[in-house]
Amino acid sequence: MTADLFADQTPAWQEPICPGATVLRGLALAEAPAILSAIEDITRRAPFRQMDTPGGFRMSVAMSNCGPLGWVSDRQGYRYAAWDPATGEGWPEMPEGLRALARHAAASAGFAGFAPDACLINRYAAGARMSLHQDRDEQDLRAPIVSISLGLPALFLFGGPTRKDPARRIPLTHGDVVVWGGPARLHFHGVAPLKAGEHPATGPFRINLTLRQAN
Ligand code: SIN
Ligand code: FE2
Repeated sequence: MTADLFADQTPAWQEPICPGATVLRGLALAEAPAILSAIEDITRRAPFRQMDTPGGFRMSVAMSNCGPLGWVSDRQGYRYAAWDPATGEGWPEMPEGLRALARHAAASAGFAGFAPDACLINRYAAGARMSLHQDRDEQDLRAPIVSISLGLPALFLFGGPTRKDPARRIPLTHGDVVVWGGPARLHFHGVAPLKAGEHPATGPFRINLTLRQAN
């Protein structure tokens, strides 16, 4: 009955972080060149920019968006907006392949029916970081977050429901995908300061995309 021994095993490329959160190793590897070329087009129309926090700090990560909605931050607060405040134009379309990959990733992690309407594109240069935060600007918290990492490696910090919960330090490399939702949907997370380096696909940067169902 060897089959039974393996019946409930998670495949090796899926690494559970905690209930509701999973790392999907290399799931975006095949699509990475297409995604990176789409990001070049997108950021020609909606350039990377460092946004200000409501508290008046400038973020070290440079950001853009694609899809019907984009995440923005300024002195007025955090929100989703249909227009890019830097250009007055709508955000560039979300590539269909990216949407399909995110849907597949969500389903693989146990969240069927994911239909993202926003994709935040983060660009980390050496030293850039993201402090621990919750993703809570989305209308319906039943949908998960799907995060795709490209380029330079980073340490992803994944904590618990309160800021003081200890955070796991999870190395993420080119092509890795993380999905969190359900009981982990509001867990605190962040990114440690990026180490300088050079990646064949992205040069001196790490690119992270987070797909969200914002509305
Ligand atoms: C985020 O929390 O929006 C970004 C996460 C990451 O860059 O891995
Ligand atoms: Fe986040």
